[in-house]
Amino acid sequence: MKAGYLQFAPQYLRPTENRDAVADHISTLDADLLVLPELFTSGYFFQSQAHLQEVAEPIPDGTTTQALREWASATGTTLVAGLAERDGEVFYNSAVLVRPDGSTETYRKVHLFYEETERFEPGNLGFPVFEASTRDGTSYMLGMMVCFDWYFPEAARSLALQGADVIAHPSNLVLPHCPDSMPVRARENHVYTITANRFGTETNETESLTFIGMSEICAPTGDILHRGPRDEVEIAIESFDPHEARSRDINRYNDTLGDRRPETYVTEQTASGPERRTTH
Ligand code: ACM
Repeated sequence: MKAGYLQFAPQYLRPTENRDAVADHISTLDADLLVLPELFTSGYFFQSQAHLQEVAEPIPDGTTTQALREWASATGTTLVAGLAERDGEVFYNSAVLVRPDGSTETYRKVHLFYEETERFEPGNLGFPVFEASTRDGTSYMLGMMVCFDWYFPEAARSLALQGADVIAHPSNLVLPHCPDSMPVRARENHVYTITANRFGTETNETESLTFIGMSEICAPTGDILHRGPRDEVEIAIESFDPHEARSRDINRYNDTLGDRRPETYVTEQTASGPERRTTH
């Protein structure tokens, strides 16, 4: 399959301009799967809840998901994109998967970063994995996680345990460590990963966040198939067989997922750490 990302710098609170920018970039696309950044229509660093309310949309009935459906149908490309979701009076930082036949699936970001915790509810849909197919009809399993989910190995592991061949990872990365961590997530779970990041800076009255670019496509071996530039628009597409992710044996004795010993693992924190800081 041919799969990759579009890296760009969304403009704050300018959904029409951001959708138009994406439409221009993908009009001549030749890909089975394309991942767009987190919150690609709205920008990231909301200055108020009113700003978020202005741009959040229902999925799948909102303008953005409808535009994604049109683009997927026109190009034959499955799209995964991050956007602010409104569900009644509740807001989620979501990713939507849109297939060329118009069907859609939603993931709501579980691990909220920084002031997102004041704007959004944590995701309530778990880490679901969905069937998708290439333009030649090869079926594969596609999981979604959003940005800061990378920090929690359980996210990618949950997707791999449910059979994900490819993890689509819309992002607005701020911390510098993700591009060196995703190859490990890919290797330890034996999956392909596609991180679609943004670049640029956004300012929220008192402070600024700078996004680090360096979107990335990783192979189940942990090899980086492609790493993007720090500060430029880029569409990167790589060719690979998603079913390669399914050979999870390490040698004739060991298997990446089969050798796990969940009964020995600790999933709850029992040692107390330092007091959680409430100011930043
Ligand atoms: C992030 O989760 N957008 C850093």
